[in-house]
Amino acid sequence: MAVVSSTLLAAAAWTVHAAAEDQQASAQPDAPVKAQPPVAPATGAQAQLIEQGRYLATAADCVACHTATGGKPYAGGVGIASPIGTIYSPNITPDKATGIGGYSFDEFDRAVRRGIAKDGSTLYPAMPYVSYAKMKPSDVKALYAYFMHDVEPVEQPSKATDIPWPLSMRWPLRFWRMAFAPNAVKEGAPPATGATLARGRYLVEGAAHCGTCHTPRGLGLQEKALTDHDRVFLSGGVVDGYVAKNLRGDRKDGLGEWTPQQIVAFLKSGRNAHAAAFGGMAEVVQRSTQNMSDADLEAIAAYLKTLSPADPDESALAADATATEKLRAGTDRSNGALTFVDNCAACHRTSGSGYESTFPTLALSSVVNSDDPTSLIHIVLKGGQMPWTKAAPTHYGMPGFATRLTDRDIADVLTFVRSSWGNRAPAVSADEVAKVRKAVRAAPQPVRPENS
Ligand code: HEC
Ligand code: HEC
Ligand code: HEC
Repeated sequence: MAVVSSTLLAAAAWTVHAAAEDQQASAQPDAPVKAQPPVAPATGAQAQLIEQGRYLATAADCVACHTATGGKPYAGGVGIASPIGTIYSPNITPDKATGIGGYSFDEFDRAVRRGIAKDGSTLYPAMPYVSYAKMKPSDVKALYAYFMHDVEPVEQPSKATDIPWPLSMRWPLRFWRMAFAPNAVKEGAPPATGATLARGRYLVEGAAHCGTCHTPRGLGLQEKALTDHDRVFLSGGVVDGYVAKNLRGDRKDGLGEWTPQQIVAFLKSGRNAHAAAFGGMAEVVQRSTQNMSDADLEAIAAYLKTLSPADPDESALAADATATEKLRAGTDRSNGALTFVDNCAACHRTSGSGYESTFPTLALSSVVNSDDPTSLIHIVLKGGQMPWTKAAPTHYGMPGFATRLTDRDIADVLTFVRSSWGNRAPAVSADEVAKVRKAVRAAPQPVRPENS
């Protein structure tokens, strides 16, 4: 079973920028963007292009990896763990000496969409250029205009990677790129029909790079699919100790039971009747998706709803009141049930259904019913905070239970949760809990007579 693996991925902090309506690409002339001194005030078409670029930078979450906690916007220095060492994101402010101020449009485009640095070396795929390859040239022009003219130049040399020689040699990355990176797209004509679905696909596969976290990785750490030509696309991945869930049509553990409106509500407010965003997704919502336009979120939802189930044989869950009745009557004396009543029921209720948009439901939840229990163990150990969003300013939290519950208690309570109220997911073992406790560096378990 895939438990916590630290991949070439990142998930750090996400930017909050006012959402500007996305400009129609066709409204922008194809003329090359002229580099101007960063102080030159922008007017007319140029100002519009910059706004379009700002919006795309938010949708693409460039800040997530290029802005360090407490650091200047886009000045880099975020450490991204990979199996071979830590990669630091570079300074992408328009500073001439230490940033990308000396990059022509073509050089910027080559880095963002093809993973090739100005000096010709290949970038680590921690920079999601395999997704950005799907961005249209006109959108990359807008991004370039925004970075060159609206981002404050910061003098801060980029940090070298911590990867030891010989793994630090970049030439093998070239072969990775040739094997796994798609070609950068051409501008193309706007679709004659199905514009909403096309827009949704464009954002999901491209700028918003949902697959970076939500698609499983192969042996070369490449995403197993970059489009819906294969059911493995968006069928779930593991990132920073959380399962970035299946977003396909599966009713048990995907988005099969979510309406498009519920998907929009989740991306906009970080919560809905089915779930609350936690872990890396809380940051995605807070810094990126909540700032996307309603039209774009609706397009994303419409597109996600076209994805067939990853498991063609899966079946829907059906509600079952047995566990609720036993908990209320006090007849289930198992460690799992008792641990639930003592620690969880105050918020998630004996019915497991919680309170909508306050304490997420555990009954019939696609999160709870994922085969891989990593996220559940992680959130019980460390707790969680819903994102703070403009649409839902109160962010409720859940405390961590690392010092209160043993590995055995957590395994039992999660096994109870995963088999009650109609849920149907495999049992969780104390060994799995111990592994996650170590991987996410949670406090050691409390000492009890039975485990000392
Ligand atoms: C998931 C993390 C992540 C995201 C999101 C991300 N980047 Fe990067 N980016 C990186 C890393 C890591 C590198 C350095 C890779 C290396 O050293 O090989 C990088 C490198 C770059 C470079 C090359 C700089 C140079 O010195 O040549 C540019 C330009 C760049 N990113 C721009 C962007 C833009 C624009 C966005 C948003 C559209 C973005 N990045 C989003 C992680 C990210
Ligand atoms: C940086 C990694 C990352 C990126 C990028 C990302 N996600 Fe997530 N996502 C996660 C993680 C981790 C979870 C599991 C936590 C949770 O359920 O809130 C998650 C959960 C979700 C859920 C909740 C599913 C459920 O059943 O509860 C939805 C919906 C979702 N993501 C949609 C998206 C969409 C759409 C995109 C692209 C616009 C996206 N995500 C991009 C990491 C990511
Ligand atoms: C103080 C109230 C509270 C208590 C007590 C509590 N939770 Fe939570 N729980 C929450 C909140 C709030 C969230 C959403 C957190 C977030 O989004 O980061 C949550 C989220 C979850 C999730 C993720 C569900 C989803 O769809 O997003 C699981 C699983 C979970 N709790 C299980 C438990 C278990 C098991 C216990 C007992 C060991 C427990 N909780 C105790 C409030 C609570």
